[in-house]
Amino acid sequence: MTPRSIIIDTDPGQDDALAILLALAAPELDVIAITTVAGNVPQPLVTINSLGLVALADREDIPVYRGCERPLLRTLVTAEYVHGPTGVDGATLPVNSVGVAEGHAVDHIISVCLDAPAASVTLCPLGPLTNIGMAIAKEPSIIPKIREIVWMGGAFDEPGNTTPAAEFNAYVDPHAAHIVFTSGIPVTVFPLDVTHKALMLPRHVEALADYGTAPAVAAAGMIRFYEVYDIDKYDLPGAPLHDPCVIAYLIDESLFSGQQHHVVVDTTNEETIGRTTESTGTAPNATVMTEIDAERFFDLVTTRIGNL
Ligand code: BDR
Ligand code: CA
Repeated sequence: MTPRSIIIDTDPGQDDALAILLALAAPELDVIAITTVAGNVPQPLVTINSLGLVALADREDIPVYRGCERPLLRTLVTAEYVHGPTGVDGATLPVNSVGVAEGHAVDHIISVCLDAPAASVTLCPLGPLTNIGMAIAKEPSIIPKIREIVWMGGAFDEPGNTTPAAEFNAYVDPHAAHIVFTSGIPVTVFPLDVTHKALMLPRHVEALADYGTAPAVAAAGMIRFYEVYDIDKYDLPGAPLHDPCVIAYLIDESLFSGQQHHVVVDTTNEETIGRTTESTGTAPNATVMTEIDAERFFDLVTTRIGNL
């Protein structure tokens, strides 16, 4: 089978890091580029982290493009309180000998899409949707070239993790999220409702570390740092692997299930800004995932990253 062409748009972040490693370990996927967006930590850290992750996977052939520095309208909010000051605390990533690719992430997304056949490029945003919203606004003729946008973000029946109403990626750039959900592109969403069921338990972390390879040891170290916040805040038995859900879905759709809905993002009310809701009586614009086969998901994450 021909591997599926994807662009990973990301703000690493330890869970972004595992998502990137999982994608680089997947023969089912062709990672055309990694584009970075300010989110968990500011630029240039997210770019440095992405460069380090492709070096860790011995895949410096994959270009990393630096993207937006701040959300479309709002002031950047970051999450060092979860991810640590570097964004990938828990591991020391190698230096990438190739360095950042020339040009802006938004322009690269546009140029890849314009050169591609219809409905052939899958965008995988793992952070705020700023780069994707910018690309759609700057060059709407990319829309028919995009097969699917698969995004980690939002919270529906689950409360938000940044405000009571909003999940982090939706909260940081709700206006970009609005552009995406009103674009007409098929969107698949992994909200907190499903990612809070993707808990990496201590036995999963140990199984990963036991592989002893550089990517496995680094990934386990990052999770041991990152799990502390959610275990303390939600009294969970492990860390939610939000962003790897996106990549796992692209490798094996049968791990997840959800429903089609018309998703709306609150962009107006300061108290609830970034809240994602399902509006009834309107044609669906997204598939919202709600269920995961967590054991099979962790087998996939552990064996693929372990064998990278
Ligand atoms: C999302 O926000 C970030 O902290 C994580 O990387 C994930 O993308 C979870 O709300
Ligand atoms: Ca992320």
